[in-house]
Amino acid sequence: MLILNKTAGVFFKPSRRKIYAFLGSFHFHPGKLFLHKLVLGIETSCDDTAAAVVDEAGNVLGEAIHSQTEVHLKTGGIIPPVAQQLHRENIQRIVQEALSASEVSPSELSAVATTIKPGLALSLGVGLSFSLQLVDQFKKPFIPIHHMEAHALTIRLTNKVEFPFLVLLISGGHCLLALVRGVSDFLLLGKSLDIAPGDMLDKVARRLSLIKHPECSTMSGGKAIEHLAKQGNRLHFDFQPPMQRAKNCDFSFSGLQHVIDKMIMQKEKEEGIEQGQVLSSAADIAAAVQHTVACHIAKRTHRALLFCKQRGFLHQSNAVLVVSGGVASNLYIRKALEIVTNATQCTLLCPPPRLCTDNGVMIAWNGVERLRAGLGILHNTEGIRYEPKCPLGVDISKEVGEAAIKVPRLKMKI
Ligand code: KG4
Ligand code: ZN
Repeated sequence: MLILNKTAGVFFKPSRRKIYAFLGSFHFHPGKLFLHKLVLGIETSCDDTAAAVVDEAGNVLGEAIHSQTEVHLKTGGIIPPVAQQLHRENIQRIVQEALSASEVSPSELSAVATTIKPGLALSLGVGLSFSLQLVDQFKKPFIPIHHMEAHALTIRLTNKVEFPFLVLLISGGHCLLALVRGVSDFLLLGKSLDIAPGDMLDKVARRLSLIKHPECSTMSGGKAIEHLAKQGNRLHFDFQPPMQRAKNCDFSFSGLQHVIDKMIMQKEKEEGIEQGQVLSSAADIAAAVQHTVACHIAKRTHRALLFCKQRGFLHQSNAVLVVSGGVASNLYIRKALEIVTNATQCTLLCPPPRLCTDNGVMIAWNGVERLRAGLGILHNTEGIRYEPKCPLGVDISKEVGEAAIKVPRLKMKI
């Protein structure tokens, strides 16, 4: 089946082709027309259909994204068959848009990189089967991508960051701390034992009915909490950060979420309102929730940095902490992490917000990294499957817990 034949005409605008052909004539290798290798990245692991073309030097030549957030906000969460249907409806258009914007035709690609793990099975399946048809049609190598690996490596596209570095991934679906030693060489130091912070913030925002708040109706839960928190006083509520006695780098958010749920119920009684209406104290609750989440994340990250320093895992003079994922766009949480990196003489780096959330660029870039390292490039895709669950790297969280590192108290004055 010719997936992309309809738009073939729009790929051949002269400008970039001419430049590449010109440069290629000076640096010609047999069978290699372009100076830079070009990778198409495709992402459909959750609720964003995204694609991008990135070259070997990290230039984003074209990108496109279709977000399903608005639909899922209305249904109160992601319904996998709905997500699948929306991916099916949009994937071809999104890939075509990314290619057209980049002025690159599929035949000029060096490889196609696609998220195949972890994620929602029905969503991953759409991206994978589309990609397999594409690589089959244009006879291109295929690079299967681990979604978390892609989040972790994005910073190397935007900043000059050498291995090793520590990464904190916090989003609606992920929560982990890992040492990144190479393109595909990770040590997992800790993860959430239950839900991810973004998931928890989304649940709290739903319980607070923030979708009915005039200023927050189109925002994701986490963004709505951050927005309202600015108008609230966190000291009006006192929630304890979870797992204070566990001297490891794991996280937990569902216990805290239940405590907050109970508090909201109590407040509804006090204010004499029904569930589904917005509490007058919603902003204060948002501020207290955000503060507690920030303190929990900061403390676990602080321990991870101390552990890595103790073991000599990070550069002594220039240890780097990278924070990414949708929740990393929260400026309050970033400030809490800045307090930690200042106290430990580390550098805090975050990709720009549009690259923190799910996107096609990070998948294409991961493809470039793998292409350059010669890792996981498939010329035969027979038997390739998506994997809804897939750990990242080697899990050393037990060892981290056994080290039982005591974290000095930091004043979280944000
Ligand atoms: O990375 P992402 O786009 O998708 C995955 O979950 O993989 O992250 C989305 C999550 C949602 O839970 C959303 O509520 C949260 O990130 N989020 C935020 C903010 N913006 C998005 N959480 C806290 N503060 C924000 N400003
Ligand atoms: Zn993600």
